[in-house]
Amino acid sequence: MNLEPIFADIEQARRELGTDVVILVHHYESDGVIRWADFRGDSLELSRVAAKQHQARYIVFCGVDFMAETAAMLCDPSQQVLLPAGDAPCPMAYMASVKRAQEAWDRLTALWSDDLVPITYQNSTAALKAFCGRHGGAVCTSSNAERLFRWALEQKRHLIFFPDEWLGTNSALALGIPRERIAVWDSDEPDASLAQARGATVVVWQGYCHVHTFFTTDHVRAVREQYPGVRVIVHPECPVDVVQAADAYGSTAQIIRYVEQAPAGSVIAIGTEVNMVTRLGREYSDKTVMPLSPSRCGTMALTTPAKLRDTLRSCVVGDPIHVVSVDDETRRWANLALERMLNL
Ligand code: 13P
Ligand code: SF4
Repeated sequence: MNLEPIFADIEQARRELGTDVVILVHHYESDGVIRWADFRGDSLELSRVAAKQHQARYIVFCGVDFMAETAAMLCDPSQQVLLPAGDAPCPMAYMASVKRAQEAWDRLTALWSDDLVPITYQNSTAALKAFCGRHGGAVCTSSNAERLFRWALEQKRHLIFFPDEWLGTNSALALGIPRERIAVWDSDEPDASLAQARGATVVVWQGYCHVHTFFTTDHVRAVREQYPGVRVIVHPECPVDVVQAADAYGSTAQIIRYVEQAPAGSVIAIGTEVNMVTRLGREYSDKTVMPLSPSRCGTMALTTPAKLRDTLRSCVVGDPIHVVSVDDETRRWANLALERMLNL
């Protein structure tokens, strides 16, 4: 498909909007979207950037819904955050509802009284962030999960982490918490989950990202056989055995730094979303950078240059589409959880 006419429209709309608009783009977006980024980043970086765009009337967020919601809660209420995809629901974010989280909370506080802090991954609904804010907890991203876990365990003896079992388990293990003190909460089996939680320090919700649980130790073994000396780095949403079989792990921004700092001639296989990996391969042509195996996030792919153009045009005519809003009560409590993270 010839994208040039769409690119010309985007260029024109941006010229007309000037400093009224700022475009934020997550690393997992395609090249046709990434090229328009005023800021590209991982989930944490984009949250920080969104909170600082005081001059912009419109913040156009090319990513998934929880990221745009976070931006909408952190920016000034007079600003508007737009999600070009219209609807881009990250499946993992919907694996923990507030109703189910409340049930787990009630059972665990019956066991431990208030000796428990809730932490939610940024990849969650605004309502779940608000739940954590209301109960003295915080948000974390894949860049700072270990830091937030440490913060929680300095205050109380237990923490519950929503909704990613693997980021939760990898972070707890990195802090030296043994596997037998990490319990998994299956919300379909609350009795069995509660029995498992007795004696646990960390309880992790049984949710996952299909883009990252796709990777297996067979992929790691195969790439090591084919490319002796290869360095393998994966995202912490990958299962524990994959993270342990890799040479390193980190958030998208940390993976990029790893590639940047690797000496010329390095061969690096990366276990995360394929758009970002192939782009890194092109940007660092003095190194060989390849996907551990190609795995794509269909939700990120919902943002296309055509949708970005339509969103920008709607701002030009003063009738913005796909505006993300969060009610005041949710925003108040969720912001508390977000600020606890951003202030650390
Ligand atoms: P980062 O926190 O690395 O940006 O990851 C967000 C995400 O959605 C990963 O699946
Ligand atoms: Fe959600 Fe996974 Fe896509 Fe990230 S990569 S947005 S966690 S489905």
